[in-house]
Amino acid sequence: MSANEQQIKIRVRGLNKSFNGRNGELVALKDVDLDVYTNEFICIVGPSGCGKTTLLNILAGLEKPTSGVAEMDGSEIKGPSAERGVVFQQYALFPWKTVIQNVEFGLKLKGMDKERRRQEAMKYVEMVGLKDFADAYPKELSGGMKQRVAIARAYAVNPEVLLMDEPFGALDAQTRAQLQEDLLKTWDKEKKTCFFITHDVDEAVLLAQRVVIMGARPGRIREIINIDVPYPRNQETKLQEDYIAYRNLIWSKVYKEYLEVAK
Ligand SMILES: Nc1ncnc2c1ncn2[C@@H]1O[C@H](COP(=O)(O)OP(=O)(O)OP(=O)(O)O)[C@@H](O)[C@H]1O
Ligand SMILES: [Mg+2]
Repeated sequence: MSANEQQIKIRVRGLNKSFNGRNGELVALKDVDLDVYTNEFICIVGPSGCGKTTLLNILAGLEKPTSGVAEMDGSEIKGPSAERGVVFQQYALFPWKTVIQNVEFGLKLKGMDKERRRQEAMKYVEMVGLKDFADAYPKELSGGMKQRVAIARAYAVNPEVLLMDEPFGALDAQTRAQLQEDLLKTWDKEKKTCFFITHDVDEAVLLAQRVVIMGARPGRIREIINIDVPYPRNQETKLQEDYIAYRNLIWSKVYKEYLEVAK
């Protein structure tokens, strides 16, 4: 099934967002329209300051649009919901809780009883390869391990939508490659709607069914490109000609947007 025939999970129409910045009104998002399909993996790329995080925050319900609407399943997004899990760039773990306790947290909020909660959380801790560290505290973990915990925690509550803001941005290349594969495998097994922001065009093309290119000043969507590279994908996909062609195409378009900002 092509993405176009799929159901719409998130619908954004005429979205504008302004902030009162130091130098007066700052238009962070202008006239953004976007459909995100059910179980789609969509990546957002664009220069720094083009409004990627602002858009994600609005979808998460953490920020309100100035005008326009963002909907999930036809209902306006008015605040945070367990149906939308968020993974931030900074590992937002509770330092006083162990790995398993961090992953259990959302399940507790959902009212799941203690025993089930532990079982369920363990499943996701194992999924991200941290079984042996279930009782470790965040300070005992590397950056990549912490980010795995954040992903396990987001997955454990079984949200319909995962909103990820440069989740691998702070990691070294190898850990990043590993987590990309983990995420692809997980998405393959347990399909979810993934909205994934990244600076890295290689990463976007490896993960996404569609790549949204944003431009800055004001932040808006420039173009959306279908990535017709078959799944399953892994790091070796990067050697394929079709991948390379998309990667070059998108890189040149994104580079133009960077030049615009540098002007
Ligand atoms: N709370 C805020 N108050 C004032 N201005 C803000 C606020 N949040 C964001 N902005 C401004 O809105 C614009 C978009 O910011 P945003 O964080 O969405 O960009 P981004 O695309 O995520 O950038 P990056 O790639 O650097 O993370 C920027 O110019 C930023 O300064
Ligand atoms: Mg950002």
